[in-house]
Amino acid sequence: MTQTILSVVLPVAGLGTRFLPATKAVPKEMLPVLDKPLIQLAVEEAYKAGIKQVVLVTSASKRAIEDHFDVNFELEATLEARNKQAMLDAVRTTLPNGMTLAVVRQPKALGLGHAVLCAAPVVGNQPFAVMLPDDFIDDTQGSCLADMVALYNNEQSYSLAVEEVPREKTDKYGVVSLDGNGRITAMVEKPKPEVAPSTLAVVGRYVLPAETFAALREVKEGAGGEIQLTDGIASLLASHAFKPHRFKGVRFDCGSKLGYLQANVALGLRDKEIGQSFQAWLKTL
Ligand code: G1P
Repeated sequence: MTQTILSVVLPVAGLGTRFLPATKAVPKEMLPVLDKPLIQLAVEEAYKAGIKQVVLVTSASKRAIEDHFDVNFELEATLEARNKQAMLDAVRTTLPNGMTLAVVRQPKALGLGHAVLCAAPVVGNQPFAVMLPDDFIDDTQGSCLADMVALYNNEQSYSLAVEEVPREKTDKYGVVSLDGNGRITAMVEKPKPEVAPSTLAVVGRYVLPAETFAALREVKEGAGGEIQLTDGIASLLASHAFKPHRFKGVRFDCGSKLGYLQANVALGLRDKEIGQSFQAWLKTL
């Protein structure tokens, strides 16, 4: 019987320089889309996928993320005394029931592949998922990761979430090529538009074999002088079946100011409390 996917690795050690000074003392993963931090949106998507263990790969100055998923006794006691049940529920369920959280440190910023490798002792010899919380996938009907876990459970296929991007943007992504059966045959990190094998870009959702860790131990510095997750996966393509997953919903690149604002507008417009007045205000602009 094939194992299912029980762990998700969330690499959150990055500096978030694009949002400075906001991210000087606050991790970028704690920036809210409406009223939930990006990291919580990722954990909620993972929960819908049946994931049991969240493995945060953090660095110094990321304590706020751990605190967000922990009990805040003082706050809860105050809300309880004031009979604020809805607020209490909101603060108590940041980490959904039945999920556990483990934290490992990435001592040096050596790249995404290295960050994922730091999680190896906690994940163990199991297939696992990786989510990049900067990529917020807004899917009101389901969960991108849940569909990818289902693909693994049904077909034993590993997968990467992908979407088409304009050719001039291939150098911002990992880019894949496919064979006639729709299997991924090659993958390259941040290729220039003129040499990109396609315009099918990887977004931050991966379902990966346990062997990824061994592969990452062998990877040398790649694009940007970093240990790239892309290069580790590329070295497994001959021995493991990887499929592209064209997800439902809309992906917002919340690592950029534009994507982050767009995500806030999308959720703001749908919000029960403020949606209508927000829309009315937008129309006046
Ligand atoms: C990372 C990955 C890249 C992927 C992208 C998706 O790049 O290295 O392959 O396409 O996330 O957001 P980063 O955005 O960290 O530069």
